[in-house]
Amino acid sequence: MEPKEKIILTGDRPTGRLHIGHYVGSLRRRVELQNSGLYDKIFIFEADAQALTDNIDNPEKVRQNVIEVALDYLSVGLDPQKSTLFIQSQIPELTELSFYFMDLVSVSRLQRNPTVKTELKMRNFGESIPVGFFTYPISQAADIAAFRATTVPVGEDQEPMLEQCREIVRRFNNIYGDTLVEPNILLPENAACLRLPGTDGQAKMSKSLGNCIYLSDTADDVAKKVKTMYTDPTHLQVSDPGHLEGNTVFTYLDAFATDEQVSRLTSDYATLQEMKDHYTRGGLGDVKCKKLLTAVLQETLEPIRQRRAEFEKDIPAVYEILQRGCEVAREAAAATMDSVRRAMKINYFDDHALIEEQARRFAKV
Ligand code: TRP
Repeated sequence: MEPKEKIILTGDRPTGRLHIGHYVGSLRRRVELQNSGLYDKIFIFEADAQALTDNIDNPEKVRQNVIEVALDYLSVGLDPQKSTLFIQSQIPELTELSFYFMDLVSVSRLQRNPTVKTELKMRNFGESIPVGFFTYPISQAADIAAFRATTVPVGEDQEPMLEQCREIVRRFNNIYGDTLVEPNILLPENAACLRLPGTDGQAKMSKSLGNCIYLSDTADDVAKKVKTMYTDPTHLQVSDPGHLEGNTVFTYLDAFATDEQVSRLTSDYATLQEMKDHYTRGGLGDVKCKKLLTAVLQETLEPIRQRRAEFEKDIPAVYEILQRGCEVAREAAAATMDSVRRAMKINYFDDHALIEEQARRFAKV
């Protein structure tokens, strides 16, 4: 269906505090989109029901992280006046839509979803894959379709999810008539932002690897983590030529540093490229590079920490923001469900033509 409004929807599973990988990969972009004025509605949500699909025996983890992620959202600058912040489990319409979407997807199509494949491998479910986990792409499609999202800003790992959502929406519209909106994915702007490696150089930041820099880390934590960061193991002497590829410090600089910062915070370089050239020629030590990175990260994170501290002073107010967001979100999803029920012909009680038709059919002459 041709969308009438430009609507953003995206979210995160509340299974841990958010880190700077989330920041460059999506949060920073969300705030820009929010403040661009180009969108009619913005929905940002915590996918707690999805988080439970592989944490069903640990609901406390999800419960604790709902408030952490809400604080992360607010502290990066998501503004409840402009963006609806809400929690997935509180919107029963999403479960309802998922149930109907389940009939539009085959088991083998789900088995082919590359993200599901990788995640199943990572989690070692063996023969005991929870059905809810296996089918979460369907629930995710419902999240997107229920809000008539046109634009879904997410990381590249979510590409198969979006593709699957588009297929489901197309199939729905083919069968039931033009009702739902096909969403577009919006990927991060550069490679460094697509997947920020961990501080140890591993491909991904992950809590279990202990290689994350969190948005809520103190300035001290951040400085310490940068000091021990992985660089170039062949760069032993300052005079040795250094390598940029796989060098976490430079990957982070690519993701975070502007040339303005490089020239202001170092006395030697006007651009990041000049600094990189010096590093690869030889003669530039890791300590200097790390000093710049620390300064850049602190400039990014300090305002976030300050805002977080403000919101932490009134936690009940944060829950109220979420509760109000859930009310707004629920209304939007309910409106979509009305048209879904009408399209699927399961709107028995407000279909007066149906009732009259049946009355005539059964009328004894
Ligand atoms: N799967 C996403 C993640 O793990 C979270 C999510 C759930 C989501 N539903 C969504 C993201 C809908 C975008 C749109 O990060």
